[in-house]
Amino acid sequence: MIITVYPIQKKGEKMVDANHKYDVYMKKGKLKFTPNMPDYDKAYKGFKWEDHYKELDWAPGKPLNVAHVAVERHALGPNANKTALIYVGENTEQRLTYKELHLLSNKFANVLKKYGIKKGDRVFLFISRVPAVYVAFLGILKAGAVASTLFGAFGPQAVKDRVGDAEGIMVITNATLKDRVDAVRPEMPALKHVLVVGAKEQMPGTISYEKEMEAASNKFTMEQTQPEDPCFMLYTSGTTGHPKGVIHAHMAILQEYMTSKWVLDLRPEDIYWCTADHGWVTGIAYGILGPLAVGTTILLYEGRFSADAWYSTLQKYKITVWYTAPTAIRMLMKEGKDITKKYDFSTLRSIYSVGEPLNPEAIREGLDMFGLPFHDTWWQTETGAMMITNYPCMDIRFGSMGKPFPGLAAGIIDDNGKELGPNEEGNLALRPGWPAMMRTIWKNKEKYDSYFKNGWYTAGDKAWKDKDGYFWFIGRADDVIKTSGERVGPFEVESALIDHPAVAEAGVIGKPDPVRGEIIKAFITLKKGFAPSDKLKEEIQQFVKKRMAAHAFPREIDFVDSLPKTRSGKIMRRVLKAKELGQPIGDTSTLEND
Ligand code: WTA
Repeated sequence: MIITVYPIQKKGEKMVDANHKYDVYMKKGKLKFTPNMPDYDKAYKGFKWEDHYKELDWAPGKPLNVAHVAVERHALGPNANKTALIYVGENTEQRLTYKELHLLSNKFANVLKKYGIKKGDRVFLFISRVPAVYVAFLGILKAGAVASTLFGAFGPQAVKDRVGDAEGIMVITNATLKDRVDAVRPEMPALKHVLVVGAKEQMPGTISYEKEMEAASNKFTMEQTQPEDPCFMLYTSGTTGHPKGVIHAHMAILQEYMTSKWVLDLRPEDIYWCTADHGWVTGIAYGILGPLAVGTTILLYEGRFSADAWYSTLQKYKITVWYTAPTAIRMLMKEGKDITKKYDFSTLRSIYSVGEPLNPEAIREGLDMFGLPFHDTWWQTETGAMMITNYPCMDIRFGSMGKPFPGLAAGIIDDNGKELGPNEEGNLALRPGWPAMMRTIWKNKEKYDSYFKNGWYTAGDKAWKDKDGYFWFIGRADDVIKTSGERVGPFEVESALIDHPAVAEAGVIGKPDPVRGEIIKAFITLKKGFAPSDKLKEEIQQFVKKRMAAHAFPREIDFVDSLPKTRSGKIMRRVLKAKELGQPIGDTSTLEND
């Protein structure tokens, strides 16, 4: 097994807190607030999911619709006039109260009904970060349909692979991204409607969001969905094949809500910023659903990344809780600590990270820059909500992902599904049955079943557990690439590469990168008549960017004469990776017999 070893804490290494900032924060009364979960061990011991059903305004045997939990009950209660959303666009700012969001999403549900969207239909959002995302997402759930999102950097091929596979009925998009849908529309026969938000005038062959919303009624009787009915669906990548549609049920809201409350420590009076895009699971579970369920105010920042813009946003909007990712933290670190001194971050109470390993250095720097430690959280698209995390009330071990959320059991297992003891490296696994666990993979039961072994859900990550129950990440057990925290399947990139006329074969790996965690690196053999050149490299990169995704192109390309392959002709990515990392190639005999 060749795995990327990240610069995280080594086993047995002592936590280094040279400036004792963390000591001060944790031990000497610097924790100025009582967290929603004041004692982890106590909470873990006595925890029962059912004790929290009533906080969702739900009881077993009753229908459960996430839109009720996230918006309707607030709109009909004391939170009605509380701000649900602060949208910060390039030159605009807009605020929506819970009541406004409720009424707008009612309107949108009526628009969906008008166009024949029924319970269970897949409706996609392929759009930048604008308030319509919230309106449409909740409207889709109210109509009983299944909401699915696409990252705005996707090209036509990536759109087709997802919307086509899911037999999506409608895509909600904007004037800029619409062309990428049009380019593959004939290849998606189930797609009936393209709805465009924010176009100056109605575009031919599309439905206008503004026009329909103006005409629609703001009264809607929500579909009485059951807890196990599908709610949202998200495509995610593995080692092989095209991305798979992970399906989540309405019941997921229980865990999204509880973790928002106990991990993010959210309260209704918070102003919360999640920097993740709604195209990824973090943007759905913790950018939309969990925090709305708590009744908090969400900041939606549309702009691009820059240290100044981000720091100004934290200061200007008096953010209290912030959820971001290691790549962003490392990019901020690169700008230096000095510029943080220009800003006032005194409103911040708790800060969090997800998506890739959070190196101890980032926690140390975070303490210097914000006076607060980043709390790492581990989970996956498939888990639907946070699973192993650090909590404000619990001592952080720098470099550790933390401990399982109450109600969950995690372990390290060997390849046969046998549980391993402390300090033994193995596969990260969880006991199935948590509320937010994916319910199936769209039209691929075999893939779904492949996650489970010997009574465990296997995550595809390598990790170990220390004797006190803290979990430590080692790397992926498969070929999945995490670049800037975004999950990319090598197969998708390879498929896009070989569509280029010069490319004969391609093998793609994740190469460790000090800022992005990993970058995508491709090894390519060329067809006869083509010669390696920098110009060709550039052309191939652009080709993948345009066709597949702007974030998933190979930043590095090596032209090679041949690629290592199994006897059946499968490219051995692990050999490419071992060579790239200067690691021993290891036993290849099994692969050669593939
Ligand atoms: C990785 C993102 C180390 C891991 C919510 C996992 C992490 C995959 C962490 C899921 C973390 C996520 N430390 N690695 N705190 N969080 N990962 O589906 O490999 O985009 O299996 O979900 O990201 O990525 P996904």
